[in-house]
Order: sequence, then C-alpha cells, then structure tokens
Amino acid sequence: MSPGPPRPGPGRRGHLSGARVRLRPPAPEDLPQLFRWMNDPEAIAPWDRFEVDSYEGMAQALRDAPSDPRSLAPRFVVMRRDDERPLGVVGYYLAHNALDTVDLWYAICLPEERGKGYGAEAVGLLTDFVFSQQKVSRVGAVADVENPASYHLLERLGFSLEGRMRQALFHHGQWHDVVVYGLTREEWERKVPTPTGPAET
Ligand SMILES: CC(C)(COP(=O)(O)OP(=O)(O)OC[C@H]1O[C@@H](n2cnc3c(N)ncnc32)[C@H](O)[C@@H]1OP(=O)(O)O)[C@@H](O)C(=O)NCCC(=O)NCCS
Repeated sequence: MSPGPPRPGPGRRGHLSGARVRLRPPAPEDLPQLFRWMNDPEAIAPWDRFEVDSYEGMAQALRDAPSDPRSLAPRFVVMRRDDERPLGVVGYYLAHNALDTVDLWYAICLPEERGKGYGAEAVGLLTDFVFSQQKVSRVGAVADVENPASYHLLERLGFSLEGRMRQALFHHGQWHDVVVYGLTREEWERKVPTPTGPAET
C-alpha cells in the first residue's frame, strides 16, 4: 500500500485547520448553542437524528463521546476562520460492531451559510482526521435519497455510491430510503489532500 501524500494531523488543542474553516472539539461553553441546534428542526433536521432528551443528557453525551466510539454526539464544532463564527457540527461513529468502518455525519446548522463550500471543507478535514487517527479501511456516510446537498458533498469528496438501504430512516411521520456512500483507505491515499489553512496560534 502506498503511503500517499502527507496529511496534517490535529494541531494544537486538537483543532483541524482548513483554508476557511477550523474544526475544534466542543468545549463546555458550547453546550447552550449545541443544545439549541440539536433541538432545532431547521438546524439539524430533517435529515439527521440525534436524540437528546435534556440539557443534562446532552452534557453527558459530550463528556462520554471521547471514550465511546459509537457515540453520535458532536465531535467537532465547525468554526469559520475569518470571524470565528460557529457554523455547525460534525461527528463520526462506529456504525457496525463487526465491520472495519466508521461513518460520518455533518450539519451546517445556520441555513444561510449552506451552499458556500463550508460543509465540504469540514467533512474533508474530518475524513482526513478519521483515516489518520484510526486503523479503519473504509469511511462511510448515509444520506436521505431526498437530500442532494448531503450526497453531492460526499461525491465532491470522492466517496462512491455503494448502495441503497430501503426505509432505514424515520422522520416526518414516514420511512425514507438512504443512499450509502464510502471511501476506502486506498482511495483516500490517492486523493488530493484537503487544503489546509495557516497554522493555529
Ligand atoms: C448537507 C450539508 C452539510 C452540506 O453542506 P454545505 O456547506 O451546504 O455544502 P457545500 O456548499 O459544501 O456543497 C457540497 C456539494 O453539495 C452541493 N449542494 C449544496 N447544497 C445543495 C442543494 N441544496 N441541493 C443540491 N446540491 C447542493 C454543492 O453544489 C456541492 O457540490 P459540487 O461540489 O458538486 O458543486 C448542509 O447543506 C446541511 O447542513 N444540511 C442540513 C443538515 C443535513 O442535511 N446534514 C446531512 C445529514 S446526512
């Protein structure tokens, strides 16, 4: 297996820096914002679900996430570099007990900031992080068949359509099909790395 081009790892304080966004681990002071987003249908739904029943439940989920590979809690807050505005959240989780694959999820929670390339850059950084830090042979994601922004993002990052799971996601009172996308380690190593930004200070 070729080693591929060098990939930057997390910088100081575990931040991942791109050209326009920075991903940083959630801090305790993010909790009010994250709780609002996770309970706001405009921010996180209708395509994602992360069931949080209380503010304390969210706080506990964030505390537990670093030691729980299956956690669906946010792993990083997406920050715009030029004004430090929080734009959204991304996460990853071990999707199958028996398989060597990690799935990603992502949301640009401010609707007015969607469609500007922030999501693709954030998920590119997240993909590089997961492949760099974990031994998995595949990174995947699923998207509602009615959510082209999500699967176009994956296609732009080099993920391939692998299949379709019928009636796998329930929202708005009905079952929805999802498309399954994946990127293998070999494909990731051949890919041009996500552009990085200036080093953190
Ligand atoms: C999905 C999401 C994260 C994409 O992030 P984004 O910053 O809006 O997307 P980007 O601007 O980086 O665009 C990524 C690709 O999707 C395309 N795209 C963006 N919005 C689109 C839309 N509404 N319809 C179709 N394609 C769209 C872009 O053109 C781009 O593809 P291209 O490179 O081939 O041109 C964002 O729209 C979002 O948070 N949606 C709500 C939550 C959600 O659906 N999360 C995913 C759950 S699986």
